[in-house]
Amino acid sequence: MSMAYTKKPKRADWWDVRPPRMYRLPQGDVACCDALLFLSSLRKESADIIFLDPPFNLGKHYGRNGSKADSLGDEDYSQYITQIIQRSVHVLKNGGSLYMYHLPRWAFKFANVLCAQLTFRHWIAVSMKNGFPGARHLYPAHYSLLYFTKGEPRQFRRPKIKTPKCRHCNSYVKDYGGYERFVRRGINLSDVWEDVSPVRHKKYKHRASNELPPVIPRRVIQISGRPGAVFVDPFAGAGTALVAAKEARMRFVACDSELSYCKLILKRLAFEKQ
Ligand SMILES: C[S@@+](CC[C@H](N)C(=O)[O-])C[C@H]1O[C@@H](n2cnc3c(N)ncnc32)[C@H](O)[C@@H]1O
Repeated sequence: MSMAYTKKPKRADWWDVRPPRMYRLPQGDVACCDALLFLSSLRKESADIIFLDPPFNLGKHYGRNGSKADSLGDEDYSQYITQIIQRSVHVLKNGGSLYMYHLPRWAFKFANVLCAQLTFRHWIAVSMKNGFPGARHLYPAHYSLLYFTKGEPRQFRRPKIKTPKCRHCNSYVKDYGGYERFVRRGINLSDVWEDVSPVRHKKYKHRASNELPPVIPRRVIQISGRPGAVFVDPFAGAGTALVAAKEARMRFVACDSELSYCKLILKRLAFEKQ
């Protein structure tokens, strides 16, 4: 690792026990280990936002370690993610926010686990293009972004987004009747995100496997983040959410089981222009 990665952050007050393999950046730490070990190493109530984007158990090849983790039996997978949730609840501050990005088929099960300990805020439907319908199923058109808080949210903002317009004629896609003047400067973000495309061409990604479009973690941080607060990402992948946290001047602590992804994160955060 180059010296650029070893600069000490101001305060790393989130570790109970330091994980064996960890890299430090000015804004936070990146651990290379299993997400459950990572979360078990963090202090009780040290996180303001926890962002869970776990492997979906679809048999994807994330790399040397991740490939096995994505092909578990349903029971084992469910148990593992349940443990991740329980540990996340322990690490979340009072008033903090937990987001989980998943397929609806799993999200509704894990929402039940979350409901037992946190306060439900939203099931956000993130529009999905290019989904393939299974036999005797409807065409899948959304991912779920679950949003829970520990009690009353300490931070909550409702961002504005651009009012959707037709790309051919530039007129509004919806008919706002006599209320057009209220939407000229944008509309309030709803719980259906149609303007986001999780599936993108590889030229927009830093690696072949799943990588979130930056707009998703940016919105999460617009809703629940604030400068100096702590953002926790146990399945950091290419580090997209960490780039968003850095932009918002949040501190972060993150993890991925793949060393190659940890190195990618370090490179992106140290050198990429935002
Ligand atoms: C869905 S991807 C996350 C993508 C990430 N949000 C991004 O935008 O790049 C899941 C990530 O979890 C990692 N992973 C898989 N099993 C893991 C485990 N048991 N502990 C920690 N990370 C794991 C994979 O290597 C992969 O990078």
